[in-house]
Amino acid sequence: MALLDVIRHRKSIRHFLDRPVERDKIMTCLEAARLAPSACNSQPWKFVVVDDEQLKNRLCRVAFGGIYLMNSFCKRAPVIVVVVSERSKFLARIGGLFRGTKYYLIDIGIAGEHFVLQAEELGLGTCWIGWFNERAVKSILNIPQDKKIDILIALGYYDSDKVRPKHSREPMDKIASFNSY
Ligand SMILES: Cc1cc2nc3c(=O)[nH]c(=O)nc-3n(C[C@H](O)[C@H](O)[C@H](O)COP(=O)(O)O)c2cc1C
Repeated sequence: MALLDVIRHRKSIRHFLDRPVERDKIMTCLEAARLAPSACNSQPWKFVVVDDEQLKNRLCRVAFGGIYLMNSFCKRAPVIVVVVSERSKFLARIGGLFRGTKYYLIDIGIAGEHFVLQAEELGLGTCWIGWFNERAVKSILNIPQDKKIDILIALGYYDSDKVRPKHSREPMDKIASFNSY
């Protein structure tokens, strides 16, 4: 698929098929993420892939309980990818403080979207997950409590016939202009 077709085809997937995801496909998605650009080439990320069914079930029970229940659909995703935000390089942190910009969030957003688009191209569905019990995720996966987890990605096969084809997005003239605001 051409890149714009992949982008057009991608939608957040919240209904997954009961089918495991091959490790080599996950590795291809990780390679796409690994190659992402980042401020000062900091690469401030670590992807912890949870594809062991029992561990994933345990993770989902604690990550999406209580006030996070709206994301309990993730229990049916065969893979949960935990994106740990690692420390940026000194120059990126200083530059970020000076500019008032959290470059590391931009960085993990780009790397995550590389992952997501590569997954789509392989016929896999994803959903970005920003609403979860971070402390519980850390303790289940032995991630030190002083690390930050800003985002998870649910991953799995899906039935593309059951996905609504249209995106609800702002029109072009509202979101872009040439040569002046
Ligand atoms: C940073 C971020 C966090 C998100 N968190 C959640 C979430 O916690 N639960 C959920 O169901 N969807 C979540 N989403 C998915 C958005 O709701 C979705 O991308 C948006 O509604 C547009 O729909 P589409 O992805 O199908 O084009 C998140 C998306 C992003 C980019």
